[in-house]
Amino acid sequence: MPRIAYVNGRYVPLAEARVGVEDRAFQFADGVYEVAAVLNGRLLDWDAHLARLWRSMGELAMAAPMGEVALNLVARRLLLANRARDALLYVQVTRGEAKRDHAFPAATQPTLAMTVRPFDFAARRRASETGVRVVSVADGRWSRPDVKSVSLLPNVLAKEAARAAGAGEAWFVDRDGYVTEGGSTNAWIVDASGALRTRPANGAILAGVMRATLLRVAAEAGVAVEERAFSLAEAHAAREAFLTSTTNPCVPVVALDGVAVGDGRPGPAAQRLAAALWAEIGRQTGWVGSTSRTG
Ligand code: PDD
Repeated sequence: MPRIAYVNGRYVPLAEARVGVEDRAFQFADGVYEVAAVLNGRLLDWDAHLARLWRSMGELAMAAPMGEVALNLVARRLLLANRARDALLYVQVTRGEAKRDHAFPAATQPTLAMTVRPFDFAARRRASETGVRVVSVADGRWSRPDVKSVSLLPNVLAKEAARAAGAGEAWFVDRDGYVTEGGSTNAWIVDASGALRTRPANGAILAGVMRATLLRVAAEAGVAVEERAFSLAEAHAAREAFLTSTTNPCVPVVALDGVAVGDGRPGPAAQRLAAALWAEIGRQTGWVGSTSRTG
């Protein structure tokens, strides 16, 4: 796959893609982003990602670098330039380049950068059969994690804490002992009655696109869902736990803070939901599970 990036009107080799040191994202993390999945060359849930990007910019009073139709065309042209089959599309928008001063600059052209990288979705689907280990960390983030900002330092530290503990994800826990979400995923449990529980998207979490898809898939499958926060203690006592994101559509949590969740193996409910979710992904994109092309 060639590696071509888009930066402020130019399609350039990734190795040559640059933004200036006075860019507001470099100086202040004053930017927002989206990560969208490309399977079989097709964007998954792209409209939802675009809507969230526009919402994030709006919440930060950030001017859009171009209209939605134009941004959509750039994204599709970039995917073609990269001959993307199974890949991730990163879209980053910042308040632009300006002399360093905290308050908004008077008039700057927003920065728009897009990159594409190959991604092994087949491996992620296999991960739903092995599961992931999770550790809990205190949620010390700012009060607006619903905005998909590039200000990800607490997430970086949480993910590193997970890796140091031999885990794949960290779950943030708020001051009251309730799980908010993962470092880059949304968090779910299956309670004693078999119902799904996940935190409502009312400001304390990012409203995940895959979270919304799973809510829909669960409803279609007749699985009961309660959008209500669960505590770390409830997660420890849960029958099953799992996480969702664009890059980890539905992955069971097999251990939490070194203690087995359920029997320590991917649970049946999470595996059924993963199967339903991958079927939905296949329906939307025509993806059949392999990047290799035959014939
Ligand atoms: N992460 N919560 C956080 C903090 C996230 O960063 C993400 C996404 C999610 C799941 O959102 P979605 O289902 O829309 O991917 C939840 C992306 C993939 C990332 O930063 O790499």
